[in-house]
Amino acid sequence: MVLELTKFYHNEDADLTVLKNKLIAVIGYGNQGRAQALNMRDSSLNVIIGNIKDSYWELAKNDGFDVYPIKEAASKGDILFLLIPDEVMPQVYENEIQSKLSEGKVLNFASGYNIAFGLIKPPKSIDVVMLAPRMIGKFVRELFVKGEGFPSFIAVENDASGKAKEIVLALAKAIGSTRAGVLEVTMAQEAYMDLFSEQGTGPIIGRTLMAAFQIQVDAGLPPEAVLVELYMSGELGLVFQTFAETGIAGQMGLHSQTSQYGSISRSLTLNIDPIVEHLQKVFEDIRNGDFAEEWRKEQEAGYPKFKELTELSKLNPLAPYEKKVIEGLRNKPEE
Ligand code: NAI
Repeated sequence: MVLELTKFYHNEDADLTVLKNKLIAVIGYGNQGRAQALNMRDSSLNVIIGNIKDSYWELAKNDGFDVYPIKEAASKGDILFLLIPDEVMPQVYENEIQSKLSEGKVLNFASGYNIAFGLIKPPKSIDVVMLAPRMIGKFVRELFVKGEGFPSFIAVENDASGKAKEIVLALAKAIGSTRAGVLEVTMAQEAYMDLFSEQGTGPIIGRTLMAAFQIQVDAGLPPEAVLVELYMSGELGLVFQTFAETGIAGQMGLHSQTSQYGSISRSLTLNIDPIVEHLQKVFEDIRNGDFAEEWRKEQEAGYPKFKELTELSKLNPLAPYEKKVIEGLRNKPEE
């Protein structure tokens, strides 16, 4: 079998000169907005901020940026970064941004969600791109400052200028992402993958850990020790880190032979079928738009189910034991 490999783009594939004389308006100064704006300013780009009058406006001012109301920033900027929460974006787009999207502008998203599910429909006369870091905002900034990078997905949804890909690659370089590597996808693909990690893989890991806790505590093992063994020592986190560095099979060598024999043999006898069936359903609901529609209706109704679910999650039976372990473990050197 010949594998068709997707290209990773690096610093040498991107050229900042395509952004020369362009004014970048970063709309939103939260997790991603602040990190990306600071990184781009350090890459010598012209950056202004558009924000509502809240604490983020003050933060941007204190960081030395010129800050404007969203409509004004959208009017001034040549390249607009939409870095506000996905669920408020369609309304803000309609009221503050749409009327300012004159020909030649570039609209950049950090998530494919609103385009993938048709909640924002930009005009064909502008470039529509996506630069979506696979990294939380705090580390987008911290890694950049250390001279390191982080992966991102890029997409070109509409190429009115004929230069949209060059532009989004240059933006990826300016925020520090081409130092690590950038992959091109579509905005819909990004949305599917992102939601599937949140709704498919994540809950299976979480619920499995909870079930494993219950089995062992019911068998008389000490709850705090069970939690330390399961994930609270941090070892599991490091194992996942090693997955990223050497691959799942590659990290096996770090474990004892007893561990290797036990985990490979039990992994092969695991009945994965019901899990696969569940994951298929989760994926289909994402891809056919059912989840997006459910979430849109939930927002429209004022989040009644979300509030209920948030309360339910606070009843987590592990929480009191987790608290004891957090208090009991000393991870910092004594003063
Ligand atoms: P955030 O929650 O940190 O956004 C806060 C910003 O949104 C502030 O500037 C605030 O003033 C503004 N804001 C909040 N409500 C508003 C409203 N009703 N009207 C106008 N402005 C409002 O957002 P975050 O997490 O940085 O996400 C931004 C984008 O980046 C989203 O598309 C998200 O999917 C994407 N993304 C986020 C990642 C993360 O690390 N959080 C990772 C990768 C992508």
